[in-house]
Amino acid sequence: MFDVEEIRKDFPILGKEINGKKLIYFDNAATTQKPREVIEGIKFFYENINANPIRSLHYLAEKATEAYNEARKKVAEFINASPEEIVFVRNATEGINLVSFAVPFKKGDSIVTSYLEHHSNILPWLRLKEEGINVEFADVDENYDLKMEIYENLPENTKLVTVTHESNVSGTINDVEKISNLVHKKGALFLVDLAQSIPHMKIDIKKIGADFAAFSGHKMLGPFGIGVLYINKRIHNILNPFLEGGEMIKDVKLNRIEYADLPYFYEAGTQNIEGAFGLGIAIDYLNKIGMNEIENYEEKLKKHMFERIKELKKVKVFSGKSKKYGAILSFNIEGLHPHDVAYLLDKEGIAIRSGFHCAQPFIEDKLKQNGTARASLYFYNTIEEIDKFIEVLKEIERKV
Ligand SMILES: Cc1ncc(COP(=O)(O)O)c(C=O)c1O
Repeated sequence: MFDVEEIRKDFPILGKEINGKKLIYFDNAATTQKPREVIEGIKFFYENINANPIRSLHYLAEKATEAYNEARKKVAEFINASPEEIVFVRNATEGINLVSFAVPFKKGDSIVTSYLEHHSNILPWLRLKEEGINVEFADVDENYDLKMEIYENLPENTKLVTVTHESNVSGTINDVEKISNLVHKKGALFLVDLAQSIPHMKIDIKKIGADFAAFSGHKMLGPFGIGVLYINKRIHNILNPFLEGGEMIKDVKLNRIEYADLPYFYEAGTQNIEGAFGLGIAIDYLNKIGMNEIENYEEKLKKHMFERIKELKKVKVFSGKSKKYGAILSFNIEGLHPHDVAYLLDKEGIAIRSGFHCAQPFIEDKLKQNGTARASLYFYNTIEEIDKFIEVLKEIERKV
């Protein structure tokens, strides 16, 4: 039984007052709040487990190794992968960048990304463009759904196609299974950015059929500084090394290096063990609530938010138009800069994000805006919070 009031008690920060008003946290696409289990779990790690895993053989080091392996297993089970397919990185950004160094691209290869991407899934490819690689952008239609033509007719020598599962601006949820099938028919690799989708829905990476998938722990109740790059076993032996150093090798001679297998191959140096441990606890928490329950509840919140926003007279909405979309409301109020909207909401204790949301090409070229205000929900938000948000927006609108 999904009881949002009980769930909210698990998140100490949700009881806070901001500017003398009860906090309404609607900036979940930027980062989510953390349940007590995660916060206390990290303290537990440092008080009971802390040591450098894998390297040493003493009691604590073995405990730390166990904790680290356990976290990897939890991530793997969460997305229906194998533990050796899970590489711990800092965040989705690092995961995507890693792919840009790992895939052996050569001059004349093509990469297809899209207009819906966060900068982290644009900039690594623009860097490769400078090195003679052709980079193309899948376009969107008037509802911000991706046009499929480019995937049905991939450019010559396409080596990699990458797309976000859910846009952090329009909320569009892309049919990544379909894209993955089309990409594989052409023998190219497929990278999916799960940063905005994995906190909100059950992900089965085998069903998607991706070669790579990247996401961030901090957007799914976990701590900062830990993220995941999934790499399909099928392609483990075609990839270049990235960072080199401790624990990513089997044998080192000055004239010959034998590299370790994945995931260690991409985990050079001491990792964020505390972060992985915390992410494991976050996953336990999500499993306890249930991803299907989360999705169902958020569906109700989303409907309510998109229905009520229609009551505003001077608002323009840039999300929620696609065939499938998440609980992300991107909007502008006529006559106000999005930063002003965010500032006025903050005075009432309501936290949203404003600006380009690290998706400047989409916002400028497709939405023709100079930024948007964005309210993004999570399963600890409530209908009452949405109502309050709408009332405050109406008040703001009246004053413009
Ligand atoms: C779709 C998408 N991809 C990637 C990222 C990058 O996430 P991080 O900053 O945690 O690396 C974000 C962050 O907002 C995002 O929304």
